[in-house]
Amino acid sequence: MPIVTPRLVLRPPTLGDLDSIQAAKEEAWNDLQRWMAWAFDNQRSREAMEHSIRRVMDYQSHAGIALAGFHKINGDFVVRTALDLTDEADVYETGFWVAPKYAGQGMATEAANAAIRYAFGHLGAKAISIGHFEGNGPSRRIVEKLGFQKLRVAYQGATRCLDGAKLDRHEYLLTSPRPLPELDVSWG
Ligand SMILES: CC(C)(COP(=O)(O)OP(=O)(O)OC[C@H]1O[C@@H](n2cnc3c(N)ncnc32)[C@H](O)[C@@H]1OP(=O)(O)O)[C@@H](O)C(=O)NCCC(=O)NCCS
Repeated sequence: MPIVTPRLVLRPPTLGDLDSIQAAKEEAWNDLQRWMAWAFDNQRSREAMEHSIRRVMDYQSHAGIALAGFHKINGDFVVRTALDLTDEADVYETGFWVAPKYAGQGMATEAANAAIRYAFGHLGAKAISIGHFEGNGPSRRIVEKLGFQKLRVAYQGATRCLDGAKLDRHEYLLTSPRPLPELDVSWG
């Protein structure tokens, strides 16, 4: 750590990042409630963000690795991603959200590509899983760009935090870093 890409520095978030990540979360909130399984009303507050950062600081390497990506030039918070341990040994689940200010610039793809390379290259992962809700076009596009293979559709397997609607969840797996788009990534 940190993981460094052409535009980002990725590392576990600390309490010093609380204000910048919270500001981005507030701005992204509508989309987060639409597409992220954790974005219930009680997760919106600054206190919830503080609690979440404290929890991931504690769980680093026990339950996986939380990552925050910061702009290499100006230090802005850009993207949150993670490598969460699953029930299956050496299989990590990933996901991501981006500060709206930096949306549409390939940042989520770059961060996920780097995190996945780190999982295979440093953590000894044998596979990475990801899922997105029905209708999340940008997320689907990212998953396809990263070379994931579709496993299945969990019919009404997701609950949208925004309104409790049941949505299909599209589930994918990547078993090697080879399909990933080329990216200059290093970690220390
Ligand atoms: C989804 C999200 C992470 C995308 O972040 P981003 O940094 O803008 O994504 P990228 O720029 O790396 O890639 C987005 C891709 O989706 C494409 N895209 C954008 N809108 C789209 C749409 N409505 N349908 C299909 N593809 C779309 C973009 O063109 C781009 O593909 P390209 O590089 O081939 O042009 C961001 O919008 C977000 O935080 N959303 C809310 C949380 C969320 O949905 N997270 C994913 C849960 S798995």
